[in-house]
Amino acid sequence: MSVHKEAKRITTHTLQSMKEQGEKITMLTGYDFSMATILDQSGVDVILVGDSASNVMAGHETTLPITLDQMIYHASSVIRAVKRALVVVDLPFGSYQGNSRLALDSAVRIMKESGAHAVKMEGGAEISDSIIRVLSAGIPVMGHLGLTPQSIYKFGTYVVRAKHEEEANKLISDAKLLEEIGCFSIVLEKIPATLGKTVSEMLTIPTIGIGGGKDTDGQVLVTHDLLGITKDFHPRFLRRYADLFTAMTEAMQAYIRDVRSGDFPGPDEQY
Ligand code: KIV
Repeated sequence: MSVHKEAKRITTHTLQSMKEQGEKITMLTGYDFSMATILDQSGVDVILVGDSASNVMAGHETTLPITLDQMIYHASSVIRAVKRALVVVDLPFGSYQGNSRLALDSAVRIMKESGAHAVKMEGGAEISDSIIRVLSAGIPVMGHLGLTPQSIYKFGTYVVRAKHEEEANKLISDAKLLEEIGCFSIVLEKIPATLGKTVSEMLTIPTIGIGGGKDTDGQVLVTHDLLGITKDFHPRFLRRYADLFTAMTEAMQAYIRDVRSGDFPGPDEQY
């Protein structure tokens, strides 16, 4: 069943009320017009134009290479498709860390040039000046703690974060800080489920988990992973709902067969 075209738009306030009502929030990534049309019609609450586009769309090993211009291109393609979902866009690596003026300029460019509704920024206390400056312009900010892929060269690996007390305490204090300064929501990536629960119960703003356990206020996955388009990625937190890699390969092979055999185009498929 698809969602009615005139359905009420999701806002940051909707997400807050969903948390208050105990209703789970759904978020999925989107990078282009066609997929965003399907995502929006499916009724997902939030579409994240993630910097995972760097991996999924461009084939890079990390999220670091994607540029602000490329994020704006993806975000504006998504925005043209969306009638209901809240669209959140990642500020890419190098466009906000350590320089709040740059952070503001980057966020303003995303909002102005793509028409997005909010931005997401990775990190806690280290980037709080940048978050505060972006918020001061009236731009809603989603935080992101735990495994923050833009810092992969600092972590060294993509293993579960905050398993030990010191890192868990830092995550808790960062989460409190992000709420205090005005973030409307926080992504919690690849952390123990018990910590996901503690942080979600402690905060009044909604948390959205990816590998953060079942007790976060919402869940997010990379759409291409959920659909089984990406094939060689098997983290424990991922549930695949389709095997589109196989389905698409079979469809393409059927087309190749039909063209080669002369079966396509048939009499009704030409002018
Ligand atoms: O870029 C992305 O897709 C993300 C999600 C994994 C949360 O940040």
